[in-house]
Amino acid sequence: MTVGPEIAARPSLTLPLLIVVFGLLLTGWSFAADFQGATHLLEFERDPIRYSKASSQTRVDELARQVQDGTQSLAFQEPDGYLRDILRALDISPASQVLVFSKSSAQRTFIDPLNPRAIYFNDEIYLGYIPGAPVLELTASDPFLGTVFYTFPQKQTARPSFERTNQCLECHAASRTLGIPGHLFRSFATDRGGLVDFTELGAQITDRLPLEERYGAWYVSNDIGQARHRGRILAPGGKRPFQVSRYPSEESDLVALLVLGHQIHFHNFLTRLIYGARLAVEQYGHVRYMKPQIDAFLRYVMFLDEAPLARPENQQSPFTKAFAKRARRDAQGRSLRDFDLENRLFKYRCSYLIGADAFQGLEPVVHQEISLRLKEILEAEIPEVPFNAIPRSERSAILGILQETGNSITRFW
Ligand code: HEC
Repeated sequence: MTVGPEIAARPSLTLPLLIVVFGLLLTGWSFAADFQGATHLLEFERDPIRYSKASSQTRVDELARQVQDGTQSLAFQEPDGYLRDILRALDISPASQVLVFSKSSAQRTFIDPLNPRAIYFNDEIYLGYIPGAPVLELTASDPFLGTVFYTFPQKQTARPSFERTNQCLECHAASRTLGIPGHLFRSFATDRGGLVDFTELGAQITDRLPLEERYGAWYVSNDIGQARHRGRILAPGGKRPFQVSRYPSEESDLVALLVLGHQIHFHNFLTRLIYGARLAVEQYGHVRYMKPQIDAFLRYVMFLDEAPLARPENQQSPFTKAFAKRARRDAQGRSLRDFDLENRLFKYRCSYLIGADAFQGLEPVVHQEISLRLKEILEAEIPEVPFNAIPRSERSAILGILQETGNSITRFW
């Protein structure tokens, strides 16, 4: 946790007090709604983070190296250039495609309802593609730096390359991304051409946002019978308003949208903890003030403020199958990736991202604190509010799944 420079310059006695007060305020706030109590920009360009100068180690960096040394090649194919081969090389399913038509991102002049922007993702990488636009846009997760940004030119060359860039931070590092370089997923009102109506503030979509406020300017297919949202529905098998041949899928999968909403906020939250802990250790030599943030994080990990879903009509889709393929299952066949989709997103309320590689960048003491606190909640007869909302049987199932599948979060148990 950091404070503004004007406070930091004062004698250090008042500082811890201010931080405790701030921490308490933050807890009250975050328990009421979200992590939004502490969304000021963290100073990520100075020591110990040095975001722009530090080298990154993401799956995209690895692929970039392989392409440079010739151990991987990427094929350019019409109509979508390098897209399909990059999805293949990064192990991102084309079935994760979701489509947005607001002119809200970097290459906005190419986007409209007849030529929407497609986003594809897996657990650690997100890719943006717009037919006819000069570059593919990628974000990938690094254990120490959190989200790292890249472009990839859509122009056929002998040795195409990824370029790491910070130009994206003008939009992607803001209070909406929790004050760190992070992910965006927003719901906008637009005119018929996709121009954003800025008189209405576009909300960041997380799994806490009521369904009725989600997906403004997004297409939504395999829709949901009873649920109401602001997306534009693509009827099953119906004619698409865009040129389907220019995309690897013609859908904008509803369950993919639901998962994306959980995932981007998870990654932003985790990065905020990673940065916050490193800054705290540097500034105070300990992370004691972070306790409220750790509980708020676990509250998110365990979906305690998830907005209720109305039952989707068609639950199986190529996306749900691709998502399940990554599941690690226990002896009873249970996995944190099992969907519920009746009243909520997942059957077991503990995020499948718990224990992801991104946790390796957490200060070990914070990592341990998260791990032990989680164990305590899962094992308790009746854990305290709000964790008592999850019944004992479900908590035991989560405990079993984590232990049996060798999840790295259990390494402190
Ligand atoms: C003008 C503001 C703006 C800029 C600049 C911008 N983005 Fe975004 N980006 C957005 C918005 C808004 C979204 C949410 C989806 C949408 O509205 O298209 C988004 C979503 C994304 C996503 C999918 C979700 C995520 O956050 O991972 C990727 C990938 C992405 N952007 C990559 C980039 C890259 C790479 C750059 C820099 C080359 C960049 N963006 C620059 C506004 C911007």
